[in-house]
Amino acid sequence: MGRNYRAQLTGVFGYPVDENPTVVMQQAAFKELGIDWRYLTILVKPSDLADAFRGLRAMNFAGINLTVPHKIEALKYVDEQALEVRLIGATNTVVNQNGRLIAYNTDGKGFVEGLRMNGVDLKGKRLAILGAGGASRAICVECALASAAELTLINRSVEKGEKLASLINEKTDCRASFIGWEGAIDVPPCDILINATSIGLYPDENCPDINYDSITPEMIVQDVIPNPADTLFLRRARERGAKTLDGLGMLVCQGAIGFKLWTGLDAPLDAMKRAIEAEQ
Ligand code: ATR
Repeated sequence: MGRNYRAQLTGVFGYPVDENPTVVMQQAAFKELGIDWRYLTILVKPSDLADAFRGLRAMNFAGINLTVPHKIEALKYVDEQALEVRLIGATNTVVNQNGRLIAYNTDGKGFVEGLRMNGVDLKGKRLAILGAGGASRAICVECALASAAELTLINRSVEKGEKLASLINEKTDCRASFIGWEGAIDVPPCDILINATSIGLYPDENCPDINYDSITPEMIVQDVIPNPADTLFLRRARERGAKTLDGLGMLVCQGAIGFKLWTGLDAPLDAMKRAIEAEQ
């Protein structure tokens, strides 16, 4: 019997490392479900992005992930944008649907899905979010779309924080306010506290400068930092009795959403989690 060597690919543009956590978990998912696809990392220079998109159409890629610096520029080369992409203004996942390229953004969806898996519905919840960069923007938009009641943004740069609060207020039914971040501020009253800054990402061992005594046991505390999974921020929140959720779990949920978008299949979450944990 001959073998069918038909090639189907999924790929990442803009990330130069071969063995990153996303590769590991997507390959584990393909293996678990017996799908003969490959998740590749391909470094693309910003000046080559148009050609790269022509290439992915020509080579019939099933889809791609996009990292910085391509998340905004890539919107020029897709045929359709999902609602969250139009609100966030950036994409990290593209699906090739019979030659039509559809842009999604899963950066905040992993957060919402992680909460849902832990039995938390965002409807009516009050959230306090540290940071107003790309990760925060995606999370805020998804929380608003998931009917969160109130977002309090806390950020060092006033302009970025105010801009994000305005976006949420103008484009969604959720109420957003902004607090400038100066010194060890108190956490405002909230159900969920999120670190969406880059503080604590390996090799940084610091934690956000907040008054940790203002964290209460009723709060759910989430870090977006996946590496290390158990950050100092989460450890200090647990000392206050809060329930914590880590960025690695969020990353796996995000990967599972991408997997489903490309393949149409439910992702084997346990296999993905095991693979990524084995790499830690
Ligand atoms: P990402 O895409 O990962 O969100 P980003 O867009 O560069 O990355 O955003 C990083 C966020 O972390 C920003 O909100 C940044 O605050 P500023 O807007 O004031 O720069 C925040 N951040 C990074 N280091 C920080 C620090 N030491 N203290 C407070 N905020 C910090």
